[in-house]
Amino acid sequence: MRPYLRKFVLLSLLLVFANTAFSHDTHGDLRHWEIASPDPDRIFLTFYGNPATSRAVTWRTDTSVAKAEVQIAKSTANPRFSGDALVVPAQTETVDLTRYSGNNQGSVNYHSAILDALDADTLYAYRVGDGDMRWSEWIQFRTAHTQYAPVSLVYFGDAQNGILSHWSRVMRMAYQKAPEAAFAIHAGDLINTAHKDLEWAEWFKAGGWIHAQWTGVPVLGNHEFSPIAKNGKRTVSLHWRPQFTLPVEAGLPDDLSETVYSFDYQQVRVIVLNSIMNPEAQTKYLEEKLRQPGAKWKILTCHYSIFSPAKGRDFPYARKAWKPLLDKYGVDLVLQGHDHTYARGQVPVKTVNGGYLDRFQTLYVTSVSGTKMYEISPSQLKSYASQGYRPIKTAEQKQFFQVINIEGDKLTYTAYTADGEKYDQAVITKDFETGKKTLE
Ligand SMILES: [Fe+2]
Repeated sequence: MRPYLRKFVLLSLLLVFANTAFSHDTHGDLRHWEIASPDPDRIFLTFYGNPATSRAVTWRTDTSVAKAEVQIAKSTANPRFSGDALVVPAQTETVDLTRYSGNNQGSVNYHSAILDALDADTLYAYRVGDGDMRWSEWIQFRTAHTQYAPVSLVYFGDAQNGILSHWSRVMRMAYQKAPEAAFAIHAGDLINTAHKDLEWAEWFKAGGWIHAQWTGVPVLGNHEFSPIAKNGKRTVSLHWRPQFTLPVEAGLPDDLSETVYSFDYQQVRVIVLNSIMNPEAQTKYLEEKLRQPGAKWKILTCHYSIFSPAKGRDFPYARKAWKPLLDKYGVDLVLQGHDHTYARGQVPVKTVNGGYLDRFQTLYVTSVSGTKMYEISPSQLKSYASQGYRPIKTAEQKQFFQVINIEGDKLTYTAYTADGEKYDQAVITKDFETGKKTLE
């Protein structure tokens, strides 16, 4: 071979090698929207205390940003509202992502701040940043009323797969259908690989600024709980606690912190349980929350389905220990995931001798918002009949989101498919004096 030809062949081989080495998902291949910078990203608003007077906000930067703060002001049409902003210092936590070998990024900083002493039913604008040059845009949200008032919320079953490619359209269609929603419940398995930063990057990119404007209610799923290293112990995602600032409830084991919590939004009580870890330790908490007065409506959300529509899936502990409490305290709605299919059913009022009246008590929903799809097992659904469960509507191979509107004596549940079509609807009417409910 002539010398120049040899050089050419060698160069071509080197190029082929470099291309292979740095192709998809190998070390060093970071998407630009995955890379942390001094500019805030992955901004996420959560409940922390009374929704009428407080929120928490969390965001990410690279490790060069050591000082972080939130500015918050009552929003006005006049852009000068920002001159009156209150400064709230943030806490900063460095997370070493290399603890998980599938991450291409090193350490990042998460910053979080509690915004409290807010006025009820007030539109606020906030921004997050380093207190100097690096700020987010101003983001607006409204605090809750102190009293019962109309509210709408959104619920998503598992995103998990096709997060950026196909879940994004679900999130964005939900925003089109319910832009005024006060909060969004993400019923577990937000991503597929617990500690993988690229998947969280997809989830934040898919939701974009909606995550910062709607208050988010993340629920832990089994895919947010796995070993960091091969053959290691399963642990909550490296990202979970740094990126979601959630209430730490008293009386629960430490390992459940920020995965079991509840809040009352205008007398709508939402209880979030962790169906993946130590469910036994949560039963007392559940009963306490259900027994507490002051809620006109009670909604439970957890990842595993209490009545599983997909074959071979089972959560017997919840049927044994949680379901009797839902019967006893008249829970209105249970929002779940995990089964990658759609099922809505109901359980009527239970009598003291273990039978069921012909009167509605609790609506159970399993849903999916991402791309992984399983089949319904009609025989499995029928097998729950002795526990009062009656299937009403099912679906397969469809991406869903749900909008729940509560106003006066009615709770209206609507399931939409990813293309914005209404697929299923149920209206619960409740007499708040007697607790009697009907389902249409
Ligand atoms: Fe799951």
